[in-house]
Amino acid sequence: MRDRDVRCKKLPSRLQSRERCDSGPTVSAPPPLGAVLLAAGLGKRMRSARAKVLHELVGRPLVCHVLAALAPLDPDPVALVVGHQAEAVRAAVADAECPGIRDLRIVLQAEQRGTGHAVACAAEAFAGFGGDVLVLYGDVPLLRPATLRALLEGHRAACADLTLVTLSFAHPAGYGRILRGPDGRVTGIVEERDASDVQRAITEVNPGLYAVRAELLFRLLAELAPDNAQGELYLTDAVALAAREGYRVHTVQAGSAAELAGVNTRAELADMEVRVRGEIVERWMAAGVTFEDPATAYVGPDVVIGRDTVIGPNVQLRGRTRVGEGCRLDGTAYLADTTLGDRVHLLFGCVADGAEIGHDARIGPFARLRPGTRLGERVHIGNFVETKQAVLGAGTKANHLTYLGDCEIGPDTNVGAGTITCNYDGFAKHRTTIGARVQIGSDTQLVAPVSVGDDAYVGAGTTVTRDVPSGSLVVSRAPQREVAGWVARKRALVAGKPVEGAAKPAGVRALRPKAKAAPARARRRR
Ligand code: UD1
Ligand code: CA
Repeated sequence: MRDRDVRCKKLPSRLQSRERCDSGPTVSAPPPLGAVLLAAGLGKRMRSARAKVLHELVGRPLVCHVLAALAPLDPDPVALVVGHQAEAVRAAVADAECPGIRDLRIVLQAEQRGTGHAVACAAEAFAGFGGDVLVLYGDVPLLRPATLRALLEGHRAACADLTLVTLSFAHPAGYGRILRGPDGRVTGIVEERDASDVQRAITEVNPGLYAVRAELLFRLLAELAPDNAQGELYLTDAVALAAREGYRVHTVQAGSAAELAGVNTRAELADMEVRVRGEIVERWMAAGVTFEDPATAYVGPDVVIGRDTVIGPNVQLRGRTRVGEGCRLDGTAYLADTTLGDRVHLLFGCVADGAEIGHDARIGPFARLRPGTRLGERVHIGNFVETKQAVLGAGTKANHLTYLGDCEIGPDTNVGAGTITCNYDGFAKHRTTIGARVQIGSDTQLVAPVSVGDDAYVGAGTTVTRDVPSGSLVVSRAPQREVAGWVARKRALVAGKPVEGAAKPAGVRALRPKAKAAPARARRRR
């Protein structure tokens, strides 16, 4: 490695490159590839207590988007430089939502002294590594693998020492400008803050994608000085150093301004969110899904939607949600990690998280399906019904004002309005089991643990505290009584009028059992 560098340095750059390209095994077997991803900055312009790379685009942290673009190139090792909220960034990339990288090494940049310093912090991870390193920023979430491949192929085809992507941006504000000499070769990059008016007028910018020979990269970084407006060690200054020292600096035009835009402010993040969301919705429309109001649909990148499904206004489909074919979502729904079978009708205003809904089910309006809800085919869940860890058999219905938690219900059972599974006794959760073809009367409380056998009937207003055998009727109800004339006496009392017949005790008649009612009446008459 060292020999090669010494030789490269002494020769005119074109010769260096050709010689290196023609000699040795690099032509048949490309050198190893590693990567450094910078994610240590706070992102001052976000005005946030949260590290910028943790802010989310379509529900996924920015840094995970960049890792997703990097993963297909299979670099090894990859150093992720963390600093601000290092633990949270580490946790975000360890999350299953973040694409796996073979050998991810987390490197700490304890103090944020600039992008050059950040890359230098990864030097140890590349000790003895003799290959190319891709250097990327963690705030460029729309980056595509194809652009990284173009960078790498350009770098290798040109036998360059350092290659960077450059692009012309119609609005270059905020980006480093590419400086070229009279012969057109890159001589350096100037940051906007440090640029003269003439330099600011340059529209060729640095989107921040580099491929560099590892050994050269870390040697150049050691030479950086913080002589700029921010007093930082700029990675971009390594480009000028390489050019000045006679190394071959190559540029590749790849990607687009839309793809390579960095996120520095909340407004930029919001713009990007709208754009990406629009693209996702367009993709699903092209695949045969109708959106009644595409502008208000929120569809996450990992969501799948079947053909001929119609999605009304204000629908959010997040996480790993799967919607089957021919479904109808009326509108204002929030579904996360939820699976809908085919032809499901989701009426207005439903929330579901971690639920599975069978074919031809009808849900809502205003239903809440919590994690562990599994609804069979043709289940009906109506308004103001909440389910949690609830498994309902095919054709079962719970249409009104009901809480079903920690329960299993067989097929074709009807759960009446106002039914509650009392699953929590203040210490632990208990299960309720209800069989097939059961009729649960309105306003039933099932005090778990409890079970109701197949074909049982539960009378309205019953508090079920003991297991109910199959085929039986269960009723628990306070006896009803009527107090004759009570209202008239009460009104008179409130109005301060003499109460007619006040001396007489109120007439009370217990309805059931009839046998006991007669003596009670007899006693009062005496
Ligand atoms: C950088 C480039 C600029 C380029 C632009 C493209 C430099 C000096 N400037 O500017 O030429 O046009 O990106 O988007 O490189 N970071 C660290 N440690 C630090 C500082 C930053 O890890 O000490 C990380 C940040 O977390 C971020 C990335 O580096 O992911 C870029 O930092 P940022 O401050 O956004 O750089 P820009 O000013 O956008
Ligand atoms: Ca940036």
